[in-house]
Amino acid sequence: MINVAIVGATGVVGEMFLKVLEEKKLNIDNYVLLASSRSKGKKIMFMGKEHIVEELTEHSFDNNRFQYALFSAGASTAEKYAKIAAQNGCIVIDNSSCFRMDKSVPLVVPQVNMEDAYEHFNIISNPNCSTIQAVVPLKVLDDKYKLKRVIYSTYQAVSGAGKKGIDDLENNTTNKFPYPIVNNCLPHIDVFLDNGYTKEEMKMIEETRKILKKPKLAITATCVRVPTLNCHCESITVELENDFKIEDIKTLLNNSSGIIVLDDPKREIYPINTFVNGTDEVYVGRIRRDFSVENGINFWCVADNIRKGAASNAVEILENLLNNK
Ligand SMILES: NC(=O)c1ccc[n+]([C@@H]2O[C@H](COP(=O)([O-])OP(=O)(O)OC[C@H]3O[C@@H](n4cnc5c(N)ncnc54)[C@H](OP(=O)(O)O)[C@@H]3O)[C@@H](O)[C@H]2O)c1
Repeated sequence: MINVAIVGATGVVGEMFLKVLEEKKLNIDNYVLLASSRSKGKKIMFMGKEHIVEELTEHSFDNNRFQYALFSAGASTAEKYAKIAAQNGCIVIDNSSCFRMDKSVPLVVPQVNMEDAYEHFNIISNPNCSTIQAVVPLKVLDDKYKLKRVIYSTYQAVSGAGKKGIDDLENNTTNKFPYPIVNNCLPHIDVFLDNGYTKEEMKMIEETRKILKKPKLAITATCVRVPTLNCHCESITVELENDFKIEDIKTLLNNSSGIIVLDDPKREIYPINTFVNGTDEVYVGRIRRDFSVENGINFWCVADNIRKGAASNAVEILENLLNNK
């Protein structure tokens, strides 16, 4: 019997877990949905039957009740309860930032470094949404041309800030963001750090280095929240060690697993949010030589942050673990 806990099942990512699991039909016998006391007793239709949400407590994982758990309930919840789950023999795939930089915890994007996932001590981390979509094309470029420097500029949708972020856009409130997100781009995601970067920017930098196993890679990032509902867009500028032909880069990316190239400027074809919404691939376009440096390229990268940036990536990790048992 394989029993799986979904922790944070009532949130934006949690609801997407349910959708993706229904689509994938993994070989799992039983699911239990958990959230905070606020959602206890809530009824949710899932896999054709009614599930009653349980409150997450210290005893939720007693008696080795679950083999796997998908967590998307924030870092403080993960800090306490993912550890309890892991001690009770449950393999946790956590979406929060809690364990991402812990050296003993694999940080995994299946197309990039699934091999790391098997080296776990019952906790595997899902990277930040903006990191996941970036490292998929970066890994392909690094394997062939060797990355020298990366510059990230992000345009991140409000769904990345959970239900409160969506409410701020839809109702023009300021419950999640410090200023109205309607009509504004806010160069501020997560808290500001002493070095002048935000925590989101440092997450992108440090997680990219960890996943690509390049601890000294030169990277900088500016992360911006924009008034779009879903899908994160990123302008990525890369310097490579080796020279290239731009057509070879396009072909290489287009032939890589999990990447779709949409790049035909003459016909105004490039990735946009509403086209990418609801998909699991990373879309790239506007691929062009950066004339300001040697061996530089610029490209535009868009992915569904709730699917590929969170739920689908975690479910893909689970699927691979199940298939390799
Ligand atoms: N949104 C994204 O693009 C994205 C991408 C990658 C990673 N993540 C991460 O995924 C996590 C969830 O994000 P979200 O966007 O889904 O947030 P959200 O919409 O605010 O949902 C939060 C979920 O966590 C549950 N929760 C909160 N406190 C809890 C507690 N003490 N015990 C049990 N459950 C608790 C909530 O339950 P109630 O409904 O009962 O309050 C809800 O199910 C965060 O760590 C976030 O950083 C989000």
